[in-house]
Amino acid sequence: MPDPNPQALDFLLTRRSRPAKTLQGPAPDRDRLMTLLTAAARSPDHGKLEPWRFIVLEGAALARLADEVAPAGERLGKIPEEIAKAQAAFADSPLCVAVIEVQKDSPKVPTIEQSYSAGAVCLALLNAALADGWGANWLSGWTSHDRGFVQAALGLAEHEKVAGFIHIGTERLTPPERPRPDLDTITTWVDE
Ligand SMILES: Cc1cc2nc3c(=O)[nH]c(=O)nc-3n(C[C@H](O)[C@H](O)[C@H](O)COP(=O)(O)O)c2cc1C
Repeated sequence: MPDPNPQALDFLLTRRSRPAKTLQGPAPDRDRLMTLLTAAARSPDHGKLEPWRFIVLEGAALARLADEVAPAGERLGKIPEEIAKAQAAFADSPLCVAVIEVQKDSPKVPTIEQSYSAGAVCLALLNAALADGWGANWLSGWTSHDRGFVQAALGLAEHEKVAGFIHIGTERLTPPERPRPDLDTITTWVDE
């Protein structure tokens, strides 16, 4: 017989992100964040490769990253608005966890499955933060895909990528619900 957990299911049926630009302090302290990271690391991982790690970005680090955005943006030919938006994402964040995909050599687990696992970690961290009452948002942006930026600002190695920046803090306002997928459109039932 199933052993339902209605509270958990209700959370999954109603959860929604809080836009990063509406977040403010306080952010979870280190003890609380360790609980959230523990939940995130409990994610499906084919071959137990642990193809991910966390970089927790707090106050001074977020200011430093914001400072490193402009030179990267100018090198890439970004317009001032794109640079300002990327700067604000770090400068205004109460706390940001960079979830790093770390590709491992494996004869049996394809690289794409390791990427999926890193994505699962991002969602698990987002959901853990939301379930704990924080506002949280999964962002990427051009900084997360620029090798020069992630190497200089985050010290990533060649086999590492940013899977997501998970911003966590206290919500200033609850956003309205957004349209959700039509299940009939995306679901195919196969019974023969
Ligand atoms: C990989 C990934 C990257 C994302 N990057 C951004 C981003 O840079 N900017 C943005 O506004 N939303 C971005 N989003 C979308 C938001 O995280 C999210 O989908 C939206 O806020 C609604 O989330 P909800 O379904 O949890 O309510 C990204 C989502 C994913 C999965």
